[in-house]
Amino acid sequence: MRTIVLSGVFLAAVLSPARAADVTLLFKKYKCTQCHAADHRSGTAPSYDKIMKKYEGQADAPAHLASVIKNGGGDVWGFVRMPANPSVPDADVQAMVDWILKH
Ligand code: HEC
Repeated sequence: MRTIVLSGVFLAAVLSPARAADVTLLFKKYKCTQCHAADHRSGTAPSYDKIMKKYEGQADAPAHLASVIKNGGGDVWGFVRMPANPSVPDADVQAMVDWILKH
């Protein structure tokens, strides 16, 4: 019985989308915070606020942003390129994209 309850809790934790606090930790974990801040431009990287406004209502935004996080990007905000993060798991990329577009 105990095992069943525990595995139920585990499953719920895996299946529920990452909460805001968890996502903030992902940005730290993957060192996005070195370049990005939520509400102001730190150095060369756009803030998550600006990114959210820019892509508001665009259906292809999640796919585009996920691709930039994974493969790197450039020429959208300035002359500095965003580095690729091929080792970040897709689920974490998705959680960060969801947060950026809806925070
Ligand atoms: C070395 C600095 C740096 C790091 C580290 C970094 N970024 Fe970026 N990021 C940038 C720059 C510079 C741009 C703007 C690129 C451009 O002009 O297209 C950018 C753009 C973006 C964009 C917008 C892309 C677009 O096409 O509009 C998103 C979303 C983003 N970064 C998320 C992240 C996430 C998530 C991480 C961590 C996994 C991360 N970044 C780590 C510098 C960085």
